[in-house]
Amino acid sequence: MTDEIKTKEEDSTIKAPGLDGIVALESELSFVDGENGDLIYRGYDIEDLAENTSFEEVVYLLWNGDLPTQDELDALQSKLQEARPLPDPVLDLIRQAPDDAHPMAVLRSAVSALSFHDPETEDQAPDANRRKAIRILAQMPSIIAAFARLRNGKEYVPPLDGGSTARNFLYMLNGEEPGETAEKTFDVCLVLHADHGLNASTFTGRVIGSTLSDMYSAVTGAIGALKGPLHGGANVEVMKMLLEIDRSDQDPVAFVKQRLEEGERVMGFGHRVYETMDPRAAILRDMLEDLGEARDAIKWYRYSTQIAETMQEETGIDPNVDFFSASVYYMLDIDIDLYTTIFALSRTAGWSSHLLEQWADNRLIRPLAQYVGARNRSVSRDKSLAN
Ligand code: CMC
Repeated sequence: MTDEIKTKEEDSTIKAPGLDGIVALESELSFVDGENGDLIYRGYDIEDLAENTSFEEVVYLLWNGDLPTQDELDALQSKLQEARPLPDPVLDLIRQAPDDAHPMAVLRSAVSALSFHDPETEDQAPDANRRKAIRILAQMPSIIAAFARLRNGKEYVPPLDGGSTARNFLYMLNGEEPGETAEKTFDVCLVLHADHGLNASTFTGRVIGSTLSDMYSAVTGAIGALKGPLHGGANVEVMKMLLEIDRSDQDPVAFVKQRLEEGERVMGFGHRVYETMDPRAAILRDMLEDLGEARDAIKWYRYSTQIAETMQEETGIDPNVDFFSASVYYMLDIDIDLYTTIFALSRTAGWSSHLLEQWADNRLIRPLAQYVGARNRSVSRDKSLAN
């Protein structure tokens, strides 16, 4: 398909709305096999990684190409640990954000502001970029947790002396150590969202990176792209829908049918690449069932599976990662409007890996637009006609 796409500006046959089906670059990071519903990171199936690796191992894998040895993993953990505390001016900026600010807007602004305090912001040497990737990845959970607490009048909780990203995030968010199940569940969620081919936010990041702008600029732009409800913002909309069904005591099947009849999209369904079930959704669905049984709250799993079956019957469209992750986060007692920021925190692993890959063999990303506007106009002629 790709080689049929013409690349000359004057060729009027160019048509790929939304860049659908266009292969824009080569990547060794992750492969979304839309036909078979498979996802791999650097050759490993997502099911294998979700079951057998931690988020930090996946980060190392994406950044370096192979899984870490224990020593390499320990070294990464301690670098992340060292970088977690926020610079005071960034904490002040978060403090000054209005309580009702969109958490993704706070995250976007705070990540951008981190660049003022990183002496290597403008240093494009590969090693400096790797160090920046560690800092951004380490500080993002601190930003999200700080905002979540400060807007509710609670004190900022500094990170722990050790432990995983998942454990630190939940600790900084709640002010107490998470249980083993919560930490493990959250860690798997981070693994599942870490990378996903050339999705909209990753593409945004790579476009910015391809101008040889800095990593903070690229990640800030990627956060902006992820915020939209057609991308990462969908998980928030999914939970709002489930809560609406629950509060109004509606039948989920009738609810979805009505939405479809009204011509509305059901959030958490559909995908540009997957023609079948998103493999991440299948893993999250099983996690939701387990959590629901363990916490005596199986209704979220029940609503979700009823909705998924109805969508399949009515439209043939399957759930994506955002559908089941929403109620998994809900079961972990995380504020609904933070869900997309969690996606961002995990996807920072992918964004930074794509930037390192882009810069290793950079070419400016600069496509064409088919010009369909007016031609041959003349200011003097039009002005004289107007008089
Ligand atoms: N609910 C109802 N109908 C849908 C949905 C949906 N969620 N998704 C697609 N369709 C229909 C759409 O109405 C269209 O029908 P028709 O041809 O009759 O007009 C057809 O399917 C094709 O839709 P499209 O918009 O051309 O497909 P796309 O590849 O551009 O869209 C999508 C992909 C993700 C934007 C879309 O499926 C959607 O809007 N989903 C809801 C938002 C969502 O869940 N986003 C998360 C995506 S996955 C994780 C991530 O990237 O963050």
